[in-house]
Amino acid sequence: MTGGMRIAIDGPAAAGKSTIAKLVAKKLGYTYIDTGAMYRAITFKVLQHAADPRSEEEIMQLISQTDIELQPGEQVQKVLLDGADVTDAIRSHEVTANVSAIAAMTAVRKLLVAKQRQLAAKSSVVMDGRDIGTSVLPEAELKIFMTASVEERAERRLLEEQQRGMSSDYETLKREISERDKADSERKISPLKKAEDAIIIDTTGKTIEEVTNSIIEYAEKRLAQ
Ligand code: DC
Repeated sequence: MTGGMRIAIDGPAAAGKSTIAKLVAKKLGYTYIDTGAMYRAITFKVLQHAADPRSEEEIMQLISQTDIELQPGEQVQKVLLDGADVTDAIRSHEVTANVSAIAAMTAVRKLLVAKQRQLAAKSSVVMDGRDIGTSVLPEAELKIFMTASVEERAERRLLEEQQRGMSSDYETLKREISERDKADSERKISPLKKAEDAIIIDTTGKTIEEVTNSIIEYAEKRLAQ
């Protein structure tokens, strides 16, 4: 295979997907697409407009005219919702607590999956999420399923949130992560699931560099085929 490729990185909440995906994309010169940020942006809009998070009809009406833009940045990828910068706002506890329910709606997924496929058609991508290898890009040339123990994921998230100046505590984060994993794995449409042809990487006890390098190696092998 020559030229570019599509790399799908799926896995449970806070497994390190976005940190690693961003670095892999940078090293390969590919576009990084954080699909979780898209579900978060929609959830933010629903909460902002006080729409009923259980009413699919109300939500569809609200989001049918929504523009979501992901802008690459050195440290963080900027997220623009209808032109406004919501990069930090979509990481709030309120958005995190509601995002799984919104992401389980058929209409929401249809809208965002179409957008994700359009983005992937334009260039070589590293896309992270829950259903990339199984549903969004089933033909992706490289699929990774990234996991880590729930304890380590909660610790990493705690550190990340503290650095962002948020007040968080370990037990709450651990519970929040477990609940989100359960909801994302048990939903009817495109649940969080390893694609049959995905490579499992358990990042527990591994450094960011180790995980990044091993994905780059897989990608290089694939490109040389
Ligand atoms: O990756 P994240 O934690 O920012 O994702 C937030 C939520 O969005 C996650 O709990 C489930 C949903 N999501 C999804 O359903 N499908 C994706 N491809 C990405 C995220």
